[in-house]
Order: sequence, then C-alpha cells, then structure tokens
Amino acid sequence: MSDKVAILHLPGQDPVELPIFSGTAGNDVIDIRSLGKTGYFTYDPGFLATASCESAITFIDGDEGILLHRGYAIDDLAYKSDYLEVCYLLLNGQLPSEKEFAKFKHTVLHHTMLHEQLVAFYRGFRRDSHPMAIMVGVVGALSAFYHDSLDITNESCREIAAFRLISKMPTLAAMSYKYSIGQPFMYPDNTLSYAGNFLKMMFGIPCEQYVVNPVLESAMDKILILHADHEQNASTSTVRLAGSSGANPFACIAAGIASLWGPAHGGANEACLEMLEEIGTVDRIPEFVARAKDKDDPFRLMGFGHRVYKNHDPRATVMRKTCHEVLDDLKIDDPLLDVAMELERIALEDPYFIEKKLYPNVDFYSGIVLRAMGIPRTMFTVIFAVSRTIGWISHWKEMLDQPGQKIGRPRQMYTGEVDLHYPEK
Ligand code: SDX
Repeated sequence: MSDKVAILHLPGQDPVELPIFSGTAGNDVIDIRSLGKTGYFTYDPGFLATASCESAITFIDGDEGILLHRGYAIDDLAYKSDYLEVCYLLLNGQLPSEKEFAKFKHTVLHHTMLHEQLVAFYRGFRRDSHPMAIMVGVVGALSAFYHDSLDITNESCREIAAFRLISKMPTLAAMSYKYSIGQPFMYPDNTLSYAGNFLKMMFGIPCEQYVVNPVLESAMDKILILHADHEQNASTSTVRLAGSSGANPFACIAAGIASLWGPAHGGANEACLEMLEEIGTVDRIPEFVARAKDKDDPFRLMGFGHRVYKNHDPRATVMRKTCHEVLDDLKIDDPLLDVAMELERIALEDPYFIEKKLYPNVDFYSGIVLRAMGIPRTMFTVIFAVSRTIGWISHWKEMLDQPGQKIGRPRQMYTGEVDLHYPEK
C-alpha cells in the first residue's frame, strides 16, 4: 500500500483519492486503476506520461542519460561483459556464476540450428525482399515448427522457447541476408562466440575457411549489448501487449520485429544512413538542418532525438567510441563519417536542437559502424532485432511471471458519429 495520495476533484463528485507509488528509482506513479468507477478515462496518446507496468529489468533516467540493466550501467556492461552474459542478466535478474554461465552458454550454442524444413520457407520470398520482411515471416513461422514450446502456462515451455529464440535469431538473420544475395546458407559453428558465429554465418562461404576478425567480433558484441533492452519502448510494449492475450512467444516476437521496423524506432539506423547518403557532402548539411527545423517539412534528422533521453544517450557514447575503433582498425576513410561528425557538431551547437534536447541517439552511430563492417543497410534493423530479442523475451517472461496478469485493453475518447439510423429504402 502507499501513504501518499493524489486528490482528484471531478465536477459533481466527491474528491477521489488515487494512491501514489514509488519504485526503487525514477518517477513516482499515480495508480488510476480505480478511476473507471468515476466515469472518466485518462487520455495519453503515445503514452508520454503512462507507466504500463511494473518492471525490474531496465531503468532509464532520460535527464541524466542513465541506462541500467538489472542495476548495472550500460557502459560498465559494454566494456566488461559480453552479450550472452547480458542475456543471462536480463533474463534471470543477476549475473551468473561461472558454472551457471557455462551451462547457459552451452544451451544457447546448442540450439542455433533450425528445423531443416524452415529452409524451404525462405524459398517462398522474392530474392529482393527486405530482410526485415523475411524476419517477420520466419520468426512468426517458428510457431508452426516448435509445437512443444507453445504452452505459455508451462514454465519449462517458456524457458525452451526463450532459448530457441536467443539461439536461432542470428541463424535466421544471417539466412535472410544470404538469401537476398543468392549465396548458400551457412550452418552455425558452435565453436565460435555468439558474435563470431553470426559474422561467420553472414560472411562465410562453404568453399573457403572463414577467420573471425577479433575487432569486428568485439564491435558486433558491443552492438548486441547496446541494443539488448530499453524499458517499455514501442516494440517491447508491442511484445507485452501481444503476450498479454496468451499468444505464443514466437508470434509475440514477430510482432515486436514488425514494430521495431518503423523508421521512428529501430529502422532509424537504416534511415540514418540513407539520410547521410542523401546529404552526401558536408557543405549540404545546413540545407538539411534547415529542413529538420521547418515545421512544414516532415523531414527529421534520423538518429537524433529520443522520447526519453533529453540528455545524451549513454549507448551513443559507447557506440561513437566503437565506431572510431572499427574505422581506425580497418583503416576506413569513410566520407559519410565526415558528414556524420560534422552533422553531429552542427546539431549540438544549433539552438533549435539544444532547446528541443535533440542529441544523437544510439542509431546515429550504429549505422556507420555496421556499414564499416561491410553489413548492408537493409540488415541494420535485423541486427537490432537479433539483439533486442533478449529484451523482448525478458519482458514477456516478467509479465507472465507477475501474479494477476491481465490482457492489455486500452480504452479511447470516442469522437465519431452517434444516433444515426439506417435510411429506409
Ligand atoms: C530508438 O523508445 C526507445 O527506447 C527507442 C530506442 C530503443 O532502444 O528501443 O531507444 C530506439 O527508437 C531510438 C530513436 C530512433 N529514432 C530516430 O532517430 C528517428 C528520428 N527521431 C524522431 O523521430 C524523434 O526524436 C523520436 C521519435 C525518436 C522521439 O519523438 P517524440 O518523443 O515523440 O518527440 P516529438 O516527435 O514530439 O518531437 C519533439 C519535438 C518536435 O518539435 P515540436 O512539435 O515540439 O515543435 O522535437 C522535434 C519535433 O519536431 N524533433 C525533431 C527530431 N526529433 C524530434 N526535429 C528534427 N529532427 C528530429 N530527429
């Protein structure tokens, strides 16, 4: 219970007491669950001021630029942990012992293969299909192959489905790329790290030995860590809402992939590269910054701004450092990076962006790093989806583990026609 209350005065009604709850950090919340009996709904399109749930997975302080996963700061994890250990942390709530991590890693690395029949599923797509379109399809189709892990009321089913998704997403993703370039699929190599295995499935070919570049492997692992989870973002909220109806985990993750694809969300890294290519040269930046400020122009600087971060995105700080490491190691002199760095400088000095607190977000740099690693733009959001699967699954599991979990069913303010009668003929 709470000893703090908000008092709501409504016309013609007695004052309504609404409990105020405090989490371990962040904003207090006003519990409005009893509001329905007053005949009123709250109104919050886009959920700018709505806490949809209680969660212990990720904490964001947008004003201070803080991102914690189960209490650990993102840069601490990015520089000291690895993606599979972060997966264990997000899913289980604490860092694993050496023995626990060895068992977790073995299980993940031994579920990387797909049901061979799924390979035929890819053949139904056109070769020029966007890999995200393929991913929405094949991940949803996993429901048709893994009948033994669809009973969400059964904890062991939930666990095996989680492992299957964490393990198979890199395989599915690499296959969507191989299919689009007409190359043969590469089977997983369980002797490699999670990131190294993904790079081999992406760039290896059956007729040559593929040697994992440790710089690219480390950069890929950091990219996976930095995109793993981010509180109740649009795609995670999509997964929670789909899961609240009892839908199976594969269908829920497919819904999350669909939501992530939007350019305002996970599609921003691909859109950011398209924008940098459209700008082309440093001297054209002012023209695009002017368009971004023009209310009548729908153009936005992709990779800038964030619903929550009104300070720097701590992920962008790590990603910027990784970006320079990769470009220095590969000795890549990418003119688009020059455009990106100058755009960052101009935007951070421009009063419009300062006033609206529009800083570069994680997507601003991830696109440049991925491009430097030879990954095609259409695969950027696919890699975001591979990484975010652990976040989606962890929130899905947390929601189902919470007692009294209900189906999500928001209401509305109706502004349509009423009392119309069908005309007599
Ligand atoms: C991700 O939620 C998450 O956590 C997401 C994510 C995750 O890990 O899951 O962090 C991943 O999606 C990062 C965001 C990637 N998206 C982009 O980079 C696309 C470009 N950014 C914008 O579309 C926008 O900033 C959003 C969608 C990210 C946030 O939009 P909001 O919070 O709804 O803010 P808004 O659109 O109301 O903008 C506030 C003001 C507006 O001006 P006014 O109407 O107040 O005059 O800022 C302006 C906007 O016009 N603005 C921009 C801008 N972003 C906001 N103007 C120019 N360029 C931009 N990028």
